[in-house]
Amino acid sequence: MKSSTRQYFQFAHHHILLLTLVYFSGRVLDAHAVPKQRPFNNTIPAILVFGDSTVDPGNNDYINTVFKGNFPPYGRDFANHAATGRFTNGRLPSDYIILYMGIKDYIPPYLNQSLSIEELITGVSFASAGTGYDPLTPTLSNVVSLQKQLEYFQEYRERLEGAIGKEETGFEVVSRACCGTGLVEASFMCNAKTPVCPDASKYIFWDAIHPTDRAYYLIFQAFRPLIDFIIKDSTS
Ligand SMILES: *[C@@H]1O[C@H](CO)[C@@H](O)[C@H](O)[C@H]1NC(C)=O
Ligand SMILES: *[C@@H]1O[C@H](CO)[C@@H](O)[C@H](O)[C@H]1NC(C)=O
Repeated sequence: MKSSTRQYFQFAHHHILLLTLVYFSGRVLDAHAVPKQRPFNNTIPAILVFGDSTVDPGNNDYINTVFKGNFPPYGRDFANHAATGRFTNGRLPSDYIILYMGIKDYIPPYLNQSLSIEELITGVSFASAGTGYDPLTPTLSNVVSLQKQLEYFQEYRERLEGAIGKEETGFEVVSRACCGTGLVEASFMCNAKTPVCPDASKYIFWDAIHPTDRAYYLIFQAFRPLIDFIIKDSTS
């Protein structure tokens, strides 16, 4: 692997808290056929993103925080030079991933209440700049905590269920960690004396802030087309 790529993955490990995939049922897929031609024969219809400023496409525009990227020169090299709230001059890594997977051009912020069902079903970001490990976190307040992002995810599921009747995310428990006090908290408490859930694959979170093996596997699956591409590129 090229060293720049390795640096990217190290960066991603520290900053993108969770990039996960959703497998909707075949029936729903038929009803909402993804319009774009896909470069891969994958069955992944959507990407859901949780995290911090590196994957926040503008959720902070909708909340009362000073930490916003919705003014020039942010977005200088984005479509129409739009300062969307992304903390960069163009696309975020999550935008590149969904573009590369042939699903759509950008991942929109969930907090934009105008998103259509079609936009919701193909993937949204719950990420909020300043959350979690974001270096600026200590100086900020009023951003969307990871727990709040998971509550929004629950709301997202309910909205889709209401709209399309059937939906399958693969995870049954999103708001509690498998190991710990049972709540997603700022500090984690998972040790030999803590109760542990019997089936971690039903959980997104292992402890209060770290995803389970199953969630990491889905993150791996999200990156797999990219990894395949890099491997193929470096051997040809
Ligand atoms: C996808 O699958 C179809 C049918 O199996 C095949 O004809 C096509 O070449 C595949 N496309 C890619 C990009 O692998
Ligand atoms: C919110 O989403 C709608 C529908 O996609 C879009 O037209 C609108 O521009 C978005 N709002 C902002 C502020 O980006």
